[in-house]
Amino acid sequence: MSPSPILMAFESSCDDSSVALVDTARCRLIDVLTYSQDIHKLFGGVVPELASRDHLKKIPILLDKILCRNKLSINDLGYLACTYKPGLIGSLLMGLMTVKSISYFLNIRFVGVDHLYGHIFADFWDHKVGFPFIAMVISGGHSDMFLVRDYTDISRIGNTVDDAAGEILDKIAKELGLGYPGGPEVEKYAEAYQEKECLFELPVPMKNKDNYNLSFSGLKTACYLIIRDQKAKGELSGQFISKLCYSLLYTVSKAICIKARKALNELEIDKLVIGGGVMRNSIIKAHLFQNFNGTGTRLHIPGPGFCTDNAAMVGYLGMIYCQRGIFSDHTLNAFPCHEAEDLK
Ligand code: KG4
Ligand code: ZN
Repeated sequence: MSPSPILMAFESSCDDSSVALVDTARCRLIDVLTYSQDIHKLFGGVVPELASRDHLKKIPILLDKILCRNKLSINDLGYLACTYKPGLIGSLLMGLMTVKSISYFLNIRFVGVDHLYGHIFADFWDHKVGFPFIAMVISGGHSDMFLVRDYTDISRIGNTVDDAAGEILDKIAKELGLGYPGGPEVEKYAEAYQEKECLFELPVPMKNKDNYNLSFSGLKTACYLIIRDQKAKGELSGQFISKLCYSLLYTVSKAICIKARKALNELEIDKLVIGGGVMRNSIIKAHLFQNFNGTGTRLHIPGPGFCTDNAAMVGYLGMIYCQRGIFSDHTLNAFPCHEAEDLK
């Protein structure tokens, strides 16, 4: 008897616990449920041990809830998928052990999914982009670039050097006294800024480097210095924060554009997919679409719900792997970095 076509996917690489159900026979996302951990707001950043402990509590609750609201039982599952790298090791282990345990007891197969590849194909559910294309993942932990020839033929051509884009948004927001995560706060203040022609002059990261890497630490330091000078003069006004936030987002989008254009031109590719949590940002998105408009490049950015971490993106690749007979065995480990070993 062939297995049930229902796949359950798990994402727990950082501070979001998420589960999804996929119908692998109809290539359909049935449902997705995500819980974003609140506890880290108290600390202004993710505390790894608290993240793991929260996954331990929340994953079983989400699992029960998604089965229940779709009138399914655990015995209806035919396949499983989970993120196994990169991410916080304790968080990854929570998802991986959950999947290994269910797989063992139900005697069904599972597959590990690379989180960054998940971001690339995040909303292929509704919007497929033909191969080959250039992909960028602009998230809290990564600002990477990939040449994507197929679901299983992906080369990383650009790396994150020190701070990733989302990381500096979070850190600068903290310095400005805004909440965590910083990205949405920076967006809120930037949206209120009216004088778009009057911006802080900020350094565009890596703009003259002959590679596809991105580093945002210089931009972070430049913002810190402006904030320090302003603090020395007195309180940070709402107008000052808005101007800095808008200038920062404008510069981040410029850096993304420069590197994307370089890769598209040099590799002669006309399609670009940019995913990851930072791509939820409406200002960055608008700048990117403006920049690529009329250039012959087709730019695709996933819808907001598919940019930040979620199990639907893990489910999509999990489904492709299952359809191609690619599975993991029970020795699969979790790894903090992308370059760690490939599927096993
Ligand atoms: O992809 P993601 O959920 O997790 C990682 O894989 O890192 O991205 C999280 C990052 C955080 O740095 C967060 O501040 C940022 O995405 N982010 C945003 C927005 N929403 C989340 N950045 C800018 N604008 C947003 N609306
Ligand atoms: Zn992510």
